[in-house]
Amino acid sequence: MTILVTGGAGFIGANFVLDWTSASPETVINLDKLTYAGNLQSLATLDGNPQHVFVRGDIADSALVAQLLAKHEPRAVLNFAAESHVDRSIHGPQAFIETNVVGTFSLLESVRAYWQALEGAKRELFRFLHVSTDEVYGSLTADEPAFTENHRYQPNSPYSASKAASDHLVRAYHHTYGLPVLTTNCSNNYGPLHFPEKLIPLIIVNALQGKALPIYGDGQQIRDWLYVKDHCSAIRSVLEGGRVGEVYNVGGWNEMSNIDIVTHVCALLDALRPRADRKSYAEQITYVSDRPGHDRRYAIDARKLERELGWRPAETFESGIRKTVSWYLDNNPWVEAVLSGSYRSWVEKNYQDRG
Ligand code: NAD
Ligand code: TYD
Repeated sequence: MTILVTGGAGFIGANFVLDWTSASPETVINLDKLTYAGNLQSLATLDGNPQHVFVRGDIADSALVAQLLAKHEPRAVLNFAAESHVDRSIHGPQAFIETNVVGTFSLLESVRAYWQALEGAKRELFRFLHVSTDEVYGSLTADEPAFTENHRYQPNSPYSASKAASDHLVRAYHHTYGLPVLTTNCSNNYGPLHFPEKLIPLIIVNALQGKALPIYGDGQQIRDWLYVKDHCSAIRSVLEGGRVGEVYNVGGWNEMSNIDIVTHVCALLDALRPRADRKSYAEQITYVSDRPGHDRRYAIDARKLERELGWRPAETFESGIRKTVSWYLDNNPWVEAVLSGSYRSWVEKNYQDRG
């Protein structure tokens, strides 16, 4: 059997594809546009592995998606593809509308046509799983309860608004057409293969390069943090056991302020790769002006997922962040290729003659 994953060259998608191929005999068709966030070097260990079929393309390319669906007949489509960085969405929201809203719509249309033509068990068992974020729920005050699946949608950034729109489309395709959808809304992920524009990998990479560690505003904004492999296991649980049409919140039961995250990472680096002058990396912390519209607090109530499917995160923040920092220390070639941009030129070189 086969699954189709979109955005599988990005941070979470690549972790998902790597975990899937090591745990299951099923083939993964990986459709990814290879934007700046897509990195095939993250999947280098799958080179030559017939279980992984990479296709460069856009989820909005309905002819390509229809062709892939007809050819590979996947039992499920998992949609990771997105523009995902809030700061980029503030500077240039257009791409977020194109991929997250119009792209998801186009993908839903392609999948609907495919699913409606399936028969019997194939139609019965098919699933469309949409990977989304807790940011669609907006910002919490310090004493409000964590987001449940019934929390109102109140997105505050172009990114979260575009993801909210995609969630609504997915919901509508179930409600109107009966498409067997599942949606997961997850908190902030961290772990290996994370592009160093997001807080945790940026801090690790900047610290080692002797650069400033930028903290937006007062650094007291709170996020719930989940180790990426735990997000992948949650998605596998929902795919196999989730009730059709349902939403599942995914979180790490780990709320932390940004400044606490950064000082924790600095302390780990102090222990694992001390600075030459033996001072703490925390000396590089620099407060900078705040992100416009910055959400103050996110928190996830993941009890539904635990109650219905028995899922709990395997990692604590302490174990997950140690693995993450160690991964960045041990994988300098990956980091260097990202920082130099050579991961992109490799992609261009590899694909320029392939049409
Ligand atoms: P990412 O930015 O690292 O990767 C996105 C991937 O999608 C890239 O490989 C990119 O090339 C691909 N892509 C972008 N536009 C495309 C298009 N039009 N067609 C095909 N491929 C396209 O993102 P990520 O952090 O791995 O996030 C994956 C998903 O999980 C996103 O939907 C995001 O909203 C969601 N999510 C992320 C987090 C997080 O903390 N990173 C938390 C919760 C939910
Ligand atoms: P980020 O990793 O961009 O994820 P998101 O905005 O989706 O939560 O940012 C995590 C938090 O860290 C967020 O509150 C913004 C903050 N932040 C900084 O303080 N400095 C930085 O340089 C970055 C990238 C983020």
